[in-house]
Amino acid sequence: MNTTATQEELEAGRGYEALFVPALFSPWSRHLVEGAGINEGSHVLDIACGSGVLARQALTKTGDSGRVVGIDPAPGMIAAARELEPNIEWVLGSAEELGFDDLGFDSVVSQFGMMFFKDRHAAASEMFRVMKPGGRLAVAVWNSIENNPAYGDIIAVLDEEVSIAAGDALRLPYSLGDSEKVTAVFDHAGFINLSVETKTEQATFPSSRTMVEAELRGWLPLFDINLSEEKIADVLTKSDIKLSKYAARTGEAVFPTSAYIVTALKPI
Ligand SMILES: C[S@@+](CC[C@H](N)C(=O)[O-])C[C@H]1O[C@@H](n2cnc3c(N)ncnc32)[C@H](O)[C@@H]1O
Repeated sequence: MNTTATQEELEAGRGYEALFVPALFSPWSRHLVEGAGINEGSHVLDIACGSGVLARQALTKTGDSGRVVGIDPAPGMIAAARELEPNIEWVLGSAEELGFDDLGFDSVVSQFGMMFFKDRHAAASEMFRVMKPGGRLAVAVWNSIENNPAYGDIIAVLDEEVSIAAGDALRLPYSLGDSEKVTAVFDHAGFINLSVETKTEQATFPSSRTMVEAELRGWLPLFDINLSEEKIADVLTKSDIKLSKYAARTGEAVFPTSAYIVTALKPI
């Protein structure tokens, strides 16, 4: 695994933190901190930590007597996270192979990463292994695209104006929107007291154009879909119209988002 971030990767991590974290991800962290029972002194692992929004929330609860570790395979995310909070241990690595000792954590949390894990069963077994008996798990995954209509609208524009492959790239984060499928993975790993709650939070982007342009320039290239400037302008014109229903008077794009919060226990 590549261990040092290039300047470009670091900029991508900073860009994610500056745009997507306040607009989309940050409102969810409180559900996971509560769901995983994070308290003063807790030892917490945040898997797929990205630029660290959830780990930083956890740190506000654990205090100096606790320990917070964030792990993510993207060097740019880890580098951006480290710049923001040196008091968290930031580790480069994947959910499927955590590399920590057995039984080290009171709480394991993961916010909107599970959809991307290549082997979800391996990841759930690793979560179980590194957790102390009686430890608590809290995981967030997006609900289906039908329950996240603003992204459904962008996907419709991509399907029509770019390709189904481009639409599929944006469908991926919503591909685990089936609560039975998600809980089956944790059940299989040995967790008990499994619960799934469907929650809604509001997303607020500076504008719909900022939101769509970030997907076109930042997300699609990860799938080798690189659009010409002409095509980008074309998609933005179409999505401006499609997403105008979410425009607040101030010009921000404001819309509800829906996700599952899965919680579980490791038996004593
Ligand atoms: C949508 S971001 C969420 C980041 C962060 N949890 C947040 O809420 O802002 C998804 C993250 O999953 C990470 N990821 C992808 N595949 C992974 C894997 N196999 N193991 C762990 N993390 C992974 C990505 O690098 C990315 O940082």
